[in-house]
Amino acid sequence: KQKKRTQLTDLMDDVSEYYYQNLLDHPKKNQAVTYLKNRGLSGQIAKMFQIGFAPDGWQNLIDKFAKKDEILHQLLAAGMIVEKESDPKSNKASRVYDRFRSRIMFPIRNNRGKTIAFGGRVLTDEKPKYLNSPETPIFSKGQELYGLYEIKKYSKNVERIIVVEGYMDVVALFQAGVGYAVATLGTATSVTHIQTLFKQVDEIVFCFDGDEAGKKAAHRAFEQCLNEVKDGRQIKFLFLPEGEDPDSMVRKIGKDAFEEQVKQSKTLSDYMIEYLQTQVDVNSEAGRAKLVELAKPYMISLPDGIFKQLLGKRFSTLVGVELQFGAFEPTVVKTFE
Ligand code: UTP
Ligand code: MN
Ligand code: MN
Ligand code: MN
Ligand code: MN
Repeated sequence: KQKKRTQLTDLMDDVSEYYYQNLLDHPKKNQAVTYLKNRGLSGQIAKMFQIGFAPDGWQNLIDKFAKKDEILHQLLAAGMIVEKESDPKSNKASRVYDRFRSRIMFPIRNNRGKTIAFGGRVLTDEKPKYLNSPETPIFSKGQELYGLYEIKKYSKNVERIIVVEGYMDVVALFQAGVGYAVATLGTATSVTHIQTLFKQVDEIVFCFDGDEAGKKAAHRAFEQCLNEVKDGRQIKFLFLPEGEDPDSMVRKIGKDAFEEQVKQSKTLSDYMIEYLQTQVDVNSEAGRAKLVELAKPYMISLPDGIFKQLLGKRFSTLVGVELQFGAFEPTVVKTFE
């Protein structure tokens, strides 16, 4: 089974190399090169991320790689080609077609740098804008982070990692000199993602798009991360202005201003308290009592430690009652005068 997986990732590396070569010497490379340049990306960044080009046509990969039936099956298993439903009588090679056509290709690599999947972006404003590899024996979406391998390979002394939504956000930040962003792959942030990142750094900054979906993604990340906030670790949130994403933002304000915003982003505590304050009327006793009720599940999720105690103190001050958030229940210790 391990041998099969190695065969697949070796093949995926070859496919990635082929897409990348297309950017250099395919007859229609110009549309792709122009697209990347218009988005501010250099040839050097394309090389570092091995960004490539899947030209139009239904059989490019099949013609290039699948001389043998064995490879055809591997391309199918890796999700790079798709089987047509109809036409069961015709021969195998004519019943399959390339999944990615006329797209900019972003290879997703695992922590050893082996290609396990792709994201592909259209060059126009067609839909769907991004197409991702399906789940395969070598690719579990909820676990992988786009850009993590590249951070380890190219960036030294990384103190924090920024989590963004998209491939282009990661690459544009890297291009700007912010070489420490990763993207979840069109899925919500998972506990696995957070655990993986805390193996690399002590600080994670979530920076999603400045829209409703981005705010939802941040809240979901907040709920997922609580269990992992041990003392010594930090979670922060950078909320972008409406309509911006990290790519557009860093291109607008530049590296230094962006990094300043990253450093000044909202702490987990501030996020939690501000969020809860929007849910209740803190000017009434009933509202403050409800705030404690709403804080309970979050506080319970936090591992015991100084951070949890300090946050508990802030809630105590806020509601005017000294609270002790234990592992299960906040208990009233003593009231202020
Ligand atoms: P966005 O919808 O924010 O991309 O999706 P965008 O910023 O508009 O894209 P650009 O800047 O025009 O290129 C962010 C991420 O969500 C996933 C992709 O991973 C994408 O990078 N996504 C988005 C999909 O998987 N499919 C889609 O159709 C759209
Ligand atoms: Mn969009
Ligand atoms: Mn978006
Ligand atoms: Mn964008
Ligand atoms: Mn976006």
